Amino acid sequence: MPRLRRALPALMVATLVGGAADKPAAIDVEHWRQAFARPDHTPAPAANPTTPEKVRLGAALFDDTRLSGSGEIACSTCHQAELSFSDGVDRHPGLDGAPLERRTPPLWNMAWGLSWFWDGRADSLEAQAAIPIEDKREMGGDLERATKAIAADPLMQKSFAAAFPEDPAVTRDNLMKALAAFERTLVSPQTRFDRWVKGDDRALDKDEFAGLALFVGKAGCVACHQGWRFTDEAFHDIGLRSQDKGRGPVLGVKAADHAFKTPSLRERVWSAPYMHDGSLATFEDVVDHYAKGIVKRPTLSADLPRAIELSETERAQLVAFLNTLSSDDPPRPTSLPPKTIAWGATAQAVATTTVSQKDRRFSPGAILLKVGEALRILNDDTRTHNVRVDGANMSFNSDGQNPGDTVTLGFDQPGHYDIICGIHPEMRLSVDVASAAAR
Ligand code: HEC
Ligand code: HEC
Repeated sequence: MPRLRRALPALMVATLVGGAADKPAAIDVEHWRQAFARPDHTPAPAANPTTPEKVRLGAALFDDTRLSGSGEIACSTCHQAELSFSDGVDRHPGLDGAPLERRTPPLWNMAWGLSWFWDGRADSLEAQAAIPIEDKREMGGDLERATKAIAADPLMQKSFAAAFPEDPAVTRDNLMKALAAFERTLVSPQTRFDRWVKGDDRALDKDEFAGLALFVGKAGCVACHQGWRFTDEAFHDIGLRSQDKGRGPVLGVKAADHAFKTPSLRERVWSAPYMHDGSLATFEDVVDHYAKGIVKRPTLSADLPRAIELSETERAQLVAFLNTLSSDDPPRPTSLPPKTIAWGATAQAVATTTVSQKDRRFSPGAILLKVGEALRILNDDTRTHNVRVDGANMSFNSDGQNPGDTVTLGFDQPGHYDIICGIHPEMRLSVDVASAAAR
């Protein structure tokens, strides 16, 4: 469960910091509050303004496997919403089965980017989108063929016409524009750290605040991880072991070898493992790298502190601070359509009963069904839930079930089933399924 992953580092801080009270260094609070303040609107290029119709189309295309050569891969295969639009592995397997060169980066806050890819080789989101589609190892597609396949779909013709009233056609350009417009809506939500930025001193606890003081002070992180997104959009060699040359070959400049784009640190709790090669599994590993893992070579960034002394306590405090830049549950952008999961014998269900999850309770809390009927569980709450069924005849786990999402379960065996939310286990639903003969 995601919750457990988050609870672990927090617990470690508690035990480590228990006795040794390293006093946080004094920082200029007002200065940093201004430096980390969020902008109040999302930018878009004049040539591709963001409209609801375009975003809806882009969201559909992001999930459309017709863009790939095999018809089986979509952008969302690698960029998964609940993993901050990354994929949880160090390097995703390519179509040939061997790992891709680099890790799938998360896609939050792309609208503010200056260049895209780890080495910055794409100079707009519109230009970026064509590359994975035609990459032989990523989607193995052909844009011309994909555009034709989509143009043959009457529903898509309608969506393109609505999204591009001035140029109502299914073209390669419009396809890229819609994908980019959707990506610009992926703005990471405010977290506890933003409450601190807005003036709430109590939003960060003592260790988290000490971590912030280290981040902007002695640990030197803010030299590169700047502003509300925590990136300077520049390229640096931070001394990882990887042999990947990164930015150097893109520019034809040897001094830029091993340099990669500074990643944002927003919603990174959900996007492990870290770095362009996915070589560091946890925030603890990342902090250890900066403290003592740097490979010395001439291309190391001038902004990288060469030898920082960080005690165990201070490392744990830095990690505690990094955690405050992520939400408590993986956020799901409102521009994504709700998820609908169907499990078991739902296709031939003769009747469907809906249960609500508002205010952290299943209501009704107990229901009676007959074999051949289905149960639809609608998250009409404001929180992320989870649906788990443990029964002799059925074992099911929905993963994160966000507001608006539905899980439909079909029952083809009589019996008793207990359904709970793994995130709020006090939520219980008891289901009794009578045999069809009882009809
Ligand atoms: C097979 C997995 C895979 C698929 C499918 C895929 N991507 Fe990616 N994506 C990656 C990897 C790996 C990178 C990093 C490559 C690099 O930097 O060289 C990346 C990079 C990106 C970036 C740059 C992010 C940044 O921080 O600069 C964007 C934007 C992006 N992908 C969008 C898309 C879109 C849109 C699609 C569908 C058209 C898509 N991706 C399909 C794996 C994938
Ligand atoms: C010299 C600039 C620089 C400094 C200083 C710096 N970083 Fe980074 N950081 C980067 C770059 C560049 C990457 C990506 C490197 C790569 O993949 O090759 C990165 C990656 C990361 C990541 C992984 C993000 C992801 O999604 O993969 C974390 C977490 C991180 N840094 C935290 C920190 C912390 C904490 C500090 C201070 C101890 C720090 N950084 C100092 C430039 C810097």
